Amino acid sequence: FITVKELYRNQEEYIGKTVKVAGWIRTSRGSKNFGFVELNDGSFFKNMQIILADDKLDNFKEISKLPISSSILVEGEVVSTEGAKQPIEIHATNIVVEGESDSSYPLQKKRHTLEYLRTIAHLRPRSNTFSAVFRVRSLAAYAIHKFFQERNFVYAHSPIITGSDCEGAGEMFRLTTMDLNNIPKTEEGNIDYSKDFFGKEANLTVSGQLNAEIMALAFRNVYTFGPTFRAENSFTQRHASEFWMIEPEIAFGDLEDDMELAEDLIKYIINYVMENAPEEMEFFNSFIDKGLFDRLNNVVNSEFKRITYTEAVELLQNSGHEFEYPVNWGDDLQTEHERYITEQVFNAPVFVTDYPKDIKAFYMRMNEDGKTVRAMDLLVPGVGEIVGGSQREEREDVLLERIKELGLNEEDYWWYLELRKFGTATHSGFGLGFERIIMYMTGMSNIRDVIPFPRTPRNAEF
Ligand code: 4AD
Ligand code: MG
Repeated sequence: FITVKELYRNQEEYIGKTVKVAGWIRTSRGSKNFGFVELNDGSFFKNMQIILADDKLDNFKEISKLPISSSILVEGEVVSTEGAKQPIEIHATNIVVEGESDSSYPLQKKRHTLEYLRTIAHLRPRSNTFSAVFRVRSLAAYAIHKFFQERNFVYAHSPIITGSDCEGAGEMFRLTTMDLNNIPKTEEGNIDYSKDFFGKEANLTVSGQLNAEIMALAFRNVYTFGPTFRAENSFTQRHASEFWMIEPEIAFGDLEDDMELAEDLIKYIINYVMENAPEEMEFFNSFIDKGLFDRLNNVVNSEFKRITYTEAVELLQNSGHEFEYPVNWGDDLQTEHERYITEQVFNAPVFVTDYPKDIKAFYMRMNEDGKTVRAMDLLVPGVGEIVGGSQREEREDVLLERIKELGLNEEDYWWYLELRKFGTATHSGFGLGFERIIMYMTGMSNIRDVIPFPRTPRNAEF
């Protein structure tokens, strides 16, 4: 079978020729001895129009009555249809039915809400919207690998099962091999966690960063790209329990280099997807977010803004805007603050740097002031934070002091500290939330609609 994409892309080669395609009926209409089928074969966002004629098809009656979503194998001639909605169509000479669909198929022609489509995750990839989203997702993943491989970054595989809590936020899913009907207890009557994971505490990773640091201090430039997990019981449009993260780590690079890398990466992904999924992107721009192309063009053609956390706080305090949460130096920026900065003040992506140490993770490099750390968050209009990163604390004594100050267990970090003993180096990295960049590029506003099988609290069907 030839793909519909190939037929569209290289039309001239196929006009007048007989080809075979296989796919699912999206729509079907016709009269007594003539019919039109819109066939989607999954290879392309657009359908192929199939012409059914009673005098050319033995089983014309059977085919013209097939319900939507039936799968068929079509043989026919490619005909040019200049001036019509689609440039080519196939005049069928032979059609075989593989699977006649039941007429109860839920994706009939009318528009469905995204909420409803979430309840049929086994069928929604066949809808226009999800066909576009998941293909963009696939292309974006490829673009990310291409970007890093072209720059000689080593793709490092970080583990999914780990004993460490990279972010120190206690948002881990614990793994256990305990018999839950007979939970082992210590002498004091507490749960004996030494029975976790065959006798060792373990959880699903929240970030591959610490492993990426190990690899960067051997390979210089590395990246991870894999699933990460957060046990936050939050029901926002931007948080999932399972999400994919891209985490580059660069040795001999500081926060400036880190931000430059993040900016280049994001521009590269957008350019790649715009170029390689023009039909899908056109669909998003027309039906999901009318300002999408303007925004993306603006992003790829301009420089991202940079301000410090302290400047951001002053800017918010002097904005005259009434916020639900007050802005005080030392507090984390709330979503409304982030949105104000990126949407109202700059209307562009903004790096906010040098956050107070107390609201950031233990591994970030301490600034001279002793109060802030070399952190950066990238905020974008519509989505908010899509990147979180930092320069890492490379000084063994400063790091150890920080670990103690935060009440972390020094022994748990023996290997992390040793990296600072055996040829320490300036190094930096960041995490890009894969779903967040897909949201940003497509205009889809709920994280549940940019990953095929979303995992959010109490949602693990399919
Ligand atoms: O800011 P975060 O927590 O940073 C880290 O995990 C660092 N260890 C990364 C690093 O420096 N290597 O997460 C990074 C990004 C966020 O900016 C956001 O885009 C995404 O991951 N993210 C989530 N995406 C979806 N659902 C969640 N629950 C997310 N939590 C973070
Ligand atoms: Mg963050």
